[in-house]
Amino acid sequence: MPVIAVIGDGQLARMMHTEAIELGLSLRVLAGSQDASAAQVTKDVLIGDYTSLDDLHRAVEGAAVTTFDHEHVPTEHLRTLIAEGVNVQPGPDALVNAQDKLVMRKRLRELGAPVPPFAAIETVADAEGFWDAVDGAVCLKARRGGYDGHGVWFPGSREELAEVVATLLQAGTPLMAEKKVALVRELSAMVARTPSGETKAWPVVESVQTDGICTEAVAPAPGLSEDLQTQVRELARNIATELGVTGALAVELFETVDVAGQPEIYVNELAMRPHNTGHWTQDGCVTSQFEQHLRAVMDYPLGSTELTAPVTVMANTLGADEDPEMPMPQRMQEVWRRYPQAKIHLYGKGHRPGRKLGHVNLTGTDVERTREAARAAAYFIVHAAWPND
Ligand SMILES: Nc1ncnc2c1ncn2[C@@H]1O[C@H](COP(=O)(O)OP(=O)(O)OP(=O)(O)O)[C@@H](O)[C@H]1O
Ligand SMILES: [Mg+2]
Repeated sequence: MPVIAVIGDGQLARMMHTEAIELGLSLRVLAGSQDASAAQVTKDVLIGDYTSLDDLHRAVEGAAVTTFDHEHVPTEHLRTLIAEGVNVQPGPDALVNAQDKLVMRKRLRELGAPVPPFAAIETVADAEGFWDAVDGAVCLKARRGGYDGHGVWFPGSREELAEVVATLLQAGTPLMAEKKVALVRELSAMVARTPSGETKAWPVVESVQTDGICTEAVAPAPGLSEDLQTQVRELARNIATELGVTGALAVELFETVDVAGQPEIYVNELAMRPHNTGHWTQDGCVTSQFEQHLRAVMDYPLGSTELTAPVTVMANTLGADEDPEMPMPQRMQEVWRRYPQAKIHLYGKGHRPGRKLGHVNLTGTDVERTREAARAAAYFIVHAAWPND
């Protein structure tokens, strides 16, 4: 069986493993610990550190391809591996655009993709200048290492901005700022690309973030015009091709309105791996993002991205403030009694408030009803109670 080395041990690697089994591929994970989400379920686990070249060497030995469940492997290590003949997908030149938000913004602007006005922030004066230029609509971002809204700030005043920037720069955090967009909603366009250049785009979805964390995705995005759907899918395809991305690519988008009141799209950020906004594909699409990612990095033909249901809603189960006493298996049974079509996906993670413990996919025909059911099911999984009881 061809071995796929996955650098990373989270739920994304875990869900790749499910598909690897079906595809007759053997997954090896480089994990931080034996009880990490993916390490629990995989036979071939190497415990190590993805910033250590030695550990990476151990992980990739004999693998047909090396891929990732996060973007944080140092570029220089990837270049070393490639020079030694290791097949790394996606490669470092693509990946850097998902690692550094300033590099990504510059590259997207070069490609003519719509991005909010932005600037590098190297001094407090840079930040104050940007504040004035955008009339205080500032979104400050750490260039690297952000996730789930960690590394994103919306300062309420020029003074607050100056203070936050001074503190972060002192701590050695490279920064950028961009204009705060007046969001109507957020969308996500996902596409997969093979090293040979085949691309396949999924239908565009609406994604909902709560306090910077993705909590919900609705596929296909309700009320998105044919034109915009086509335009956004083309945009994602172009980005994948121009940047030489291989595997799954998520293009996170902002929908806003222009001066004429027409919908307008900006690119937020890129993720080069399966993505939370693509989990719905496990139960609402012919080919899931996890299967497609593996097929893509193996340079196999890509699978159909046709919908298998009119509507699919994915709702994340985020740890409640307190873990209820009812055991998880009982909570799941309660959910299935009320919603037999609910597909529950758990990551094997212990309870922590706000932690992504799993998600629920629910298919249906009516957006609002399906959304309500998915929310209720996900709520029950972490609260052991129904939302309005
Ligand atoms: N320029 C902006 N204008 C308005 N809202 C924004 C802007 N940038 C980010 N946000 C909000 O903050 C959220 C998190 O931002 P971003 O996606 O850059 O951060 P992240 O922590 O890296 O996210 P992820 O969890 O997707 O890796 C966005 O989904 C959006 O809701
Ligand atoms: Mg994001």
